[in-house]
Amino acid sequence: MLLDAIAVETISTRFAALSWQQRLAALSEWNESAVAFSTSFSFEDQAITHVIATQKLPIRIFTLDTGRLFEETHKLHQATREKYNIIIETYVPDAAEIEAFVNKNGINGFYNSIENRKECCKIRKVLPLQRALKGVDIWISGLRREHSDVRSNLGAAEWDEGNHVVKLYPLIDVSADEVWKFIKENNIPYNPMHEQGFPSIGCAPCTRAIAADEHPRAGRWWWEQGEQECGLHMVDGKLTRVKNA
Ligand code: ADX
Ligand code: SF4
Repeated sequence: MLLDAIAVETISTRFAALSWQQRLAALSEWNESAVAFSTSFSFEDQAITHVIATQKLPIRIFTLDTGRLFEETHKLHQATREKYNIIIETYVPDAAEIEAFVNKNGINGFYNSIENRKECCKIRKVLPLQRALKGVDIWISGLRREHSDVRSNLGAAEWDEGNHVVKLYPLIDVSADEVWKFIKENNIPYNPMHEQGFPSIGCAPCTRAIAADEHPRAGRWWWEQGEQECGLHMVDGKLTRVKNA
């Protein structure tokens, strides 16, 4: 079944009455679309992976390994694979594109300008994402409204015009406390950095620890002003939005 913008509203309405775990399970009952979940190994994503793996849901799990991740993230990738006996499909950036970027801008040239930073995110995340989403109808992601102002208006389902997929956020209205409770109750492996001042973890050079009174995403691309989004969830510079049919 090929999904389009019309499906967005239907899914959003159905999602409203379900718990986040039921939302994931319901996907396999509702349709036969190709469904894929992207994990960054955040605590949210670990909770989603746990449900997909333990309920053996027909959902591919993939990750974008930018080449600049923390060692802790790699350890968690390995531990998750082994605990659940699953393959987390791994997409890496194109070698020639990385070489050209580094030779032109320097190994850490993304600090020099927003354009460079976006270019690096494009090469290391956005282009591999496009490969990962080939043939996918529904893309599941761990975004929550609590994350930031720009994410606070997101619906549970959106039509992603750029990638031509329906994006689903099963955790959209779930609080961090609720997710952590689920993680602890179910003994789900998580990144120990979350307990060391890193509520949000991306690439190592672009993530820092935050103080107790800072916003949870303040440690991402902290030297830049603005929306602090890497492009994964953007279309034409904006977060994807629901497009009702
Ligand atoms: S980001 O855009 O700022 O990097 P964030 O870290 O909040 O995103 O993660 C939100 C969601 O984006 C995750 O739940 C996951 O679905 C997806 N995501 C982010 N980074 C990656 C990654 N490296 N690999 C796969 N999915 C990712
Ligand atoms: Fe490059 Fe930083 Fe973006 Fe990672 S987060 S892809 S290192 S600019």
